[in-house]
Amino acid sequence: LRGPLLSFSADPGVDVTPKDESVVYLEDGLLWIEQGHIKHVGEADALLAHLPADAELHHYPDKLIMPGFVDPHVHFSQLDIIASFGKQLLDWLNDYTFPEEARFADPAYADALADAFISEMLRYGTTTALAFCTSHPSSVDALFKAASARGCRMLGGKVMMDRNAPAALTDTPERAEHESRALIERWHGQGRLEYAITPRFAPTSSPEQMRVAGLLAKDYPELIVQTHLSENTKEIAWVSNLYPSARDYLDVYDRVGLLKDRAVFAHAIHIDDSVRQRLHSAGGRIAFCPTSNLFLGSGLFDFRAARESKVTLGIASDIGAGTSLSQLHTLAAAYQVCQLQGVSYTPWQGFYQVTHGNAVMLSLNDCIGQLKPGFEADIVVLDPRGSPALARKASRATTLFEMLFNLMMLGDDRAIHATYVQGRKMELAP
Ligand code: GUN
Ligand code: FE
Repeated sequence: LRGPLLSFSADPGVDVTPKDESVVYLEDGLLWIEQGHIKHVGEADALLAHLPADAELHHYPDKLIMPGFVDPHVHFSQLDIIASFGKQLLDWLNDYTFPEEARFADPAYADALADAFISEMLRYGTTTALAFCTSHPSSVDALFKAASARGCRMLGGKVMMDRNAPAALTDTPERAEHESRALIERWHGQGRLEYAITPRFAPTSSPEQMRVAGLLAKDYPELIVQTHLSENTKEIAWVSNLYPSARDYLDVYDRVGLLKDRAVFAHAIHIDDSVRQRLHSAGGRIAFCPTSNLFLGSGLFDFRAARESKVTLGIASDIGAGTSLSQLHTLAAAYQVCQLQGVSYTPWQGFYQVTHGNAVMLSLNDCIGQLKPGFEADIVVLDPRGSPALARKASRATTLFEMLFNLMMLGDDRAIHATYVQGRKMELAP
């Protein structure tokens, strides 16, 4: 691939001027890919002469080539309930989410949705996700089959929930353990697939099931744990009733061993500095989900406080509460959430987060998230003129900063010119 190349080698910080050497930009770069991996990166002038005669050259002179986006918190089963009207979290779950997830009892339905999810993700330039499936083991099979059919690096797990949900969706502590173990054995480490231990959230797991989730995390210490934390004030009050002996919401997870390295907590909106510190020191991570937090009216994530606590942060779509699989839309919402709190979220920080930052958050930063020799060749080609609004603004964008800010505020699927997975250009549905 030849064209303008942009990648981040480190966190650029939150200022308008990025930290030294965090931004790697080549105006006319060459990304040399062999067998699904990046072999060389450099100035086109210098590298072109060394290309083998039979190399296939894809030239994108007025585009922007970046690492494929990473989405570290998403529910693939909720693709078709995006934009469900008029509810906040707990009613939204009961009225829209659980009935939809119940449909995944039918493996054919799960297969169809998993396939649509991977197609949509790629159409928006996202090449890796950490996904919630449903409580049905076949929903995990569906996701992993669809991901491996296109060669995507994908992480996911079966939802564990044994109470406060319709009978069609609940398991038991024993069944959740048995099914999770079987799925780990079947899928974890197969190709680019990773299993994630997935207790939905405190209200839908009994103390007994929480212990089982903690036991799994101990037995498989290298696995990601994913769940939700302190998203909505009614949810938090409910958790303190359901777990009266827990010190707070985070403690429900902590005391069974789920607050650990590589544990991903979605939302974490209504928390204080002591909770941030406990997350940070245990190696827990937060997924900031701005479109979801706005859509459900959950609250404003305190980005500045999270940064100051040094907790590892990622930024995620969280569809179906989130309103779009597009990480460009996620960044636009992050900007707005931060503006409401007097912070201007920069495009440096934004594009860092959706690439290298989210790879760091998933501990995958040795294989994806940068344009760097040895890395897997998952790539997005952005079109800075990819819509009438972008085209108008592009004529005035004189700096890379302005071009990136336009893309994050105005960009949508039309700004995704191409997506590559392991060096192969994907067919994007129209
Ligand atoms: N908390 C528990 N389950 C969910 C879910 O599916 N979506 C969101 N946004 N929050 C949750
Ligand atoms: Fe979620």
